[in-house]
Amino acid sequence: MQGIKILGTGQYLPGKKVVNEDFTKIVETSDEWIRTRTGMSERYVSDGEPTWYMGLEAAKAAIKDAGISPEDIGVIIDSSVSPDYYTPSMACVIQGKLGAVNAMTIDINCACAGCVYGIDMAKRYLQSDEDIKYALVISNENLTKITDYSDRSTCVLFGDGAAAMVIERRDNALYSSYLGADGTGAKYLFARSIPPHNAFMTGNGKVDDEFPESNSHYLYQDGREVYKFATRTLPRALQTAAEKIGFDINELDAIIPHQANARIIETAAKNLDISLDKFVINIHKHANTSSASIPIALHEAIQEGRIKPGDKIAFVGFGAGLTFGAIIMEF
Ligand code: ACO
Repeated sequence: MQGIKILGTGQYLPGKKVVNEDFTKIVETSDEWIRTRTGMSERYVSDGEPTWYMGLEAAKAAIKDAGISPEDIGVIIDSSVSPDYYTPSMACVIQGKLGAVNAMTIDINCACAGCVYGIDMAKRYLQSDEDIKYALVISNENLTKITDYSDRSTCVLFGDGAAAMVIERRDNALYSSYLGADGTGAKYLFARSIPPHNAFMTGNGKVDDEFPESNSHYLYQDGREVYKFATRTLPRALQTAAEKIGFDINELDAIIPHQANARIIETAAKNLDISLDKFVINIHKHANTSSASIPIALHEAIQEGRIKPGDKIAFVGFGAGLTFGAIIMEF
């Protein structure tokens, strides 16, 4: 089996920290509600840093950790639902700042499953193109710029941050993935872009979408629908990835899920009949950072010595789209 090796990881967290109590000054909520319903206590928020900057700093740290040079990288895959520009891509901006002159650049928008999609795409590039020796996967999110701070049901949930990893191919290594989407659920979690507007418009081409009215470009979420999707999908994606290679999920040393809600992770552990101790959970420190949540959790688990070389690990992401993805691999 052809797999991958994660050679290095890095992260960037903005300097500004917001605790649950801070929200009681702007919306009707309480520390108790936020903690018991979500598991969140604190989150880092951008103090003006653009998305690309967070990704760049995380990427620099990952490259240093991997012991390679930016010129060695053949592909940069950047995941974000909160990029700074429609164009150019975050991957291009970061490639330029890094001086990764030999890297092709791709941005992906797979929401909270973005890191899982990015790793799997990187694996496929490494596998199919011998000229690409190293892939750089970056997840950078500035969710607070699309957060409506008058909506208590969403504003307490999100944080900002970035993490990155350098990946190379590894022969005869454990690897399985299962990725997918359910686009019929797109209306449950979205943020609008600028509507059509040009000098010749009459409005006759207007098509109503099925998306609920939402407040400008801010994130809209039907929390209950997304919750149902997440609790259903997390166990199924992991089990399907395991079944593809006849792997027993009880052999996993650590599972790194998307950090959207501690209750989703607890329910998944119960449904999978796996001890909650195997799940890496850092939602209390970061809240939901969309696609950055899995690589931030990975980076911290490595730093804490919780994940070691040779460990069998899994990543499981789910989010807007609705997208999902699971990877099982050896660290
Ligand atoms: N403080 C106090 N009360 C609140 C707050 C708040 N911050 N937010 C909502 N409430 C109230 C609601 O108004 C409601 O009151 P009502 O009963 O009087 O109408 C009550 O709390 C219960 O609301 P629910 O929406 O049922 O709360 P729930 O227990 O479902 O928790 C939550 C909401 C945390 C959003 C949950 O549904 C969830 O985690 N959903 C999944 C989120 C997720 O996985 N997102 C995926 C990825 S994100 C991405 O892709 C960017």
